[in-house]
Amino acid sequence: MDGEIVAIYPGSFDPVTNGHLDIIERGTGIFDRVIVAVLVNVAKDPLFTLEERLEMLRDATSRWQNVVIDTFNGLLVSYAAERQARVILRGIRAVTDFEYEFQMASMNRRMAPHIETVFMVPAEAYSYLSSSLVKEVASLGGSVTGLVPPLVERNLHVRIQRKDTGKRV
Ligand code: PNS
Repeated sequence: MDGEIVAIYPGSFDPVTNGHLDIIERGTGIFDRVIVAVLVNVAKDPLFTLEERLEMLRDATSRWQNVVIDTFNGLLVSYAAERQARVILRGIRAVTDFEYEFQMASMNRRMAPHIETVFMVPAEAYSYLSSSLVKEVASLGGSVTGLVPPLVERNLHVRIQRKDTGKRV
């Protein structure tokens, strides 16, 4: 639609957490459309396959009409241009996030000056939350209830149990 403000919310989402969902929800209130874009070639070895990550995202975001789940490869700004997005949406939790986010936003602006990076702060309850911490806590038997959507919690348990019993994951 002409004049529509589309925001891309990029990431690896391995897996999606309630912190990500908090940012997505805030984004839906401001932008006409939020495209959650999952990076296909994650450098780090992901716990969940791309299809699994997409399924968990679709399930967790189905309540928002203006959220689309997609994948991307290569440069984020090229993908954003392709989708005619004017905004890259990123969540920022603490000062420790700042340097990396600042570098990415500046580099992205250098390559695509017309695309604006917008930072949002998640609810305090999620300010320490990350996908890697969730995976670590779950793999060591800790509870992640309330930190991830129910389907993610179930999938984490299945994945970890399978690892424990030595079956193929
Ligand atoms: O889940 P993450 O690690 O916070 O997401 C990082 C992501 C996917 C946003 C970033 O790695 C990215 O944009 N990758 C695509 C390649 C790219 O455009 N690199 C140049 C960034 S300045």
